[in-house]
Parts: sequence; structure tokens; C-alpha cells
Amino acid sequence: MSQANYTHNHALTPSAAAIAAADAAALADMDRVVSTLELRDITKKYRVRGAGQLTALNKVNVTVSSGKTVALVGQSGSGKSTIAKIITQLERETSGAVLLDGQPIPRRGKGLRAYRQRVRMVFQDPFASLNPTQTIRHHIERPLRLDHVVPSREVEGEVRRLLSVVRLDPDAVINRRPHELSGGQRQRVAIARALVNNPSLILADEPTGNLDSKTSAEIMRILEVLHSRGNTIILVTHEDDIAQHAHRIIRLRDGKIHSDEATLRSKEKAVV
Ligand SMILES: Nc1ncnc2c1ncn2[C@@H]1O[C@H](COP(=O)(O)OP(=O)(O)O)[C@@H](O)[C@H]1O
Ligand SMILES: [Mg+2]
Repeated sequence: MSQANYTHNHALTPSAAAIAAADAAALADMDRVVSTLELRDITKKYRVRGAGQLTALNKVNVTVSSGKTVALVGQSGSGKSTIAKIITQLERETSGAVLLDGQPIPRRGKGLRAYRQRVRMVFQDPFASLNPTQTIRHHIERPLRLDHVVPSREVEGEVRRLLSVVRLDPDAVINRRPHELSGGQRQRVAIARALVNNPSLILADEPTGNLDSKTSAEIMRILEVLHSRGNTIILVTHEDDIAQHAHRIIRLRDGKIHSDEATLRSKEKAVV
């Protein structure tokens, strides 16, 4: 997709000047920390009432290097979300190890908190992950304050910058609540929140799963912009055309890696 294909179809789209400013800020971010995430022999078993144990992941090995876009594809139930939850440590693996830059990731305390700042997740349903009673400002301000990302007086500016990065007009959305936005706009807010503190890796679990194809394309375009800034993106999807945006496609089947291949895009230097 090219810049020209990005559609300005609603009143909340920012001006060309705002986009240019956001892009300049994005380029300034490019010296982020380089990192490699590795899943080594990851097995995850769930206890299922009345049915013993279910093996959701069976000795999965994956290494994702910095700056790549990886699509994780597979049918429903193949283990995609389980991988996502183990990478973000919302779930603990039954056996195996998760390594960041060769080091086992921290399991608790400050170390785990720091890890979670580097690895952020975007969920399928932004309605479920955004609080209906809170403004868009609140959703982005809160993690900025909790993590002391910028001094207090700079929080408002940073909220606005992050909204611009995801192509939302800060003035138009900042005081609104999630239900006052479209599905695509809500997902952009979720992505803006995931960008707090400039994470090394963004893990998006079916981020376009609830969106129509045009809105999905807009969200993909934003993920591509993030990738061009140097963010590593892991995109979980069951749609092959969405997966083709990635440099690499990992296919899961019944909790195992079925294939792991580079796409034609892997030869492209710049994705956007
Ligand atoms: N918390 C859980 N308890 C029990 N079984 C689970 C749990 N989470 C996922 N599973 C099971 O693990 C398998 C993989 O699920 P999941 O990773 O969500 O698949 P996908 O995201 O590819 O649809 C499925 O069989 C699912 O039912
Ligand atoms: Mg899933």
C-alpha cells in the first residue's frame, strides 16, 4: 500500500501538516534498542475440567529479530493467541523459555514491568480493551504517567503526538469516549496506547478481526508505518491477504509450527 492509498474518509483525519510532523517525530525514534525475541521449546498445557490436559502449544521454537514484521497464521484453536499471551507473559509457559536478547525474561517485579514496556499487545476487540467510561486522553495518559515516560508537563503533548502517529486528529478525539469513535478509530487508540514508551515489539492479536476490509487496510497501513519506524511487529491473523503484508509467515497447526517462510516482501528494503 502506498501513501496515496491511505484514505481520508472521515472528519477526524488529521491535516497533511500534522501527518508530516508525526512522520518527522517517528523518524527521530528510529534509534530504538535493537532486540531479538526467542521462544525455545515452548509447551503450554491447559487443564480442562473433565477432559484432563489440553496441549495448546507443543515445543514451539521461534526467533524474531528486530525490525521485522512477522505474521502468525493458523486456524482457530491452533495456538496463536497462546503464543501471544506467552510472549507478553499474560500466561506462563508450562515448559521452555522466552529469551530477550539471549537472556531469560524476568518473571516478576521491576524486571517484568520493564519487559512489558518493551513488548506491548494490541487485542482483537478494542471495545473490550478500552474503558467505556474514560476519555481517549485518559487511555494514553495513564500508562504514560504510570511508567513516568515523560515529565508531567509533557504528558499532554506526548498523548497528542501518539494520536498523530496513528493518524488520529488529537483535537477531534482526545476528549471523546470509545463509543463515540468508529471501530477503526478505536483500534488506532489501542495502537497509540501500545506505543507508549516506544516498545521494541508490538504484538497485535487479530487487530483487524472485527473490522471491514477498508478499515482493516487502514490499520495495516498504520502497522506498516510503525514497522518503517523500526518497531518489530508480530501480527496474529487467520487471513492470508493480511499475512502477506509481513516479511515472514509462521503457520501454526495444532499447537506446532507447520511452516516458517519468508514472503516476497522480505526482499523489500522499505515496507512503506
Ligand atoms: N485459558 C484456557 N483454558 C483452557 N484451554 C485454553 C485456554 N486458552 C486457550 N485454550 C485452548 O488452547 C488451544 C489454543 O487456543 P488459542 O491459542 O486461543 O488459539 P487461536 O488463537 O489460534 O485461535 C485451543 O484448543 C483453546 O481452546
Ligand atoms: Mg486467538
